[in-house]
Amino acid sequence: MTLAIVRTVADLRAQVKEWRANGLSVGLVPTMGALHDGHLTLVQTALAKCDRVIVTIFVNPKQFGPNEDLDTYPRTEKEDSEKLASVGGHLLFAPNVSEMYGEDGGITKVKVEGLGDILEGACRPGFFDGVATVVSKLLLQALPDYAFFGEKDYQQLTVIKRFVADLNIPVTIEGVPTVRETDGLALSSRNAYLNREEREIAPLLYRTISEVSERFKVGGTPQALSKWAAQQLLDGGFQKVDYVVVRKANDLASEAVKGEAIRVLAAAFLGKARLIDNVA
Ligand code: PAF
Repeated sequence: MTLAIVRTVADLRAQVKEWRANGLSVGLVPTMGALHDGHLTLVQTALAKCDRVIVTIFVNPKQFGPNEDLDTYPRTEKEDSEKLASVGGHLLFAPNVSEMYGEDGGITKVKVEGLGDILEGACRPGFFDGVATVVSKLLLQALPDYAFFGEKDYQQLTVIKRFVADLNIPVTIEGVPTVRETDGLALSSRNAYLNREEREIAPLLYRTISEVSERFKVGGTPQALSKWAAQQLLDGGFQKVDYVVVRKANDLASEAVKGEAIRVLAAAFLGKARLIDNVA
């Protein structure tokens, strides 16, 4: 099958309806494009589970703050569609902003209280409202059986699972493990902002949070480890650390305690790039 490209909700729904009529299961992989191997792993995971896979590319203005990189965010649809065709994706849904939000931009938003206001939500006010709103819309537009998101954006994955449960959206959300370069750097479209020197420094983020996870296991406290990790990053060449935290994996709001699943999450600036990462 070749990759079909649709740009309207009506065409998307018509295709999904036809697949459903033939008894086929449907997977959705939402992206903002600039596809890398991390995205392609999401698509391959979806292909292993579902008969048909839709990938969406939409650079969602509602999840960018006023001083963020909406205008410069890489837009590479031609290369993206070639990559999707090469891994066997079935349908690319690439709407424009007015198709997604209507001529007036839409006045409804989905907000996940609390969970959406901490960590990334505190550093990037409104970010998770934008994500939750667009992902709700994509899920309702496509009505897939499964939707796939990377664990690289662990808080995003947690927020999405939460509103899907709260709103009874009939879809199973699947988290897919982070894909890393050989030196540990998590794949991200924003890695393209790193110059050569910064690229060499960047894997320190993963090394540091991995070390935090190890030190927590042998008795380190979340507060002391946060402080230690931030200093490691600054000493190693990062310019600003937004947070390094050790939290309970299920709600991300409370500090980790021994014997329960934990997540170490971090965000820090390196040159023009704001890198985020997390480990179990
Ligand atoms: O992770 C992303 O690329 C975006 O936040 C998403 C989930 C596609 C929503 O715009």
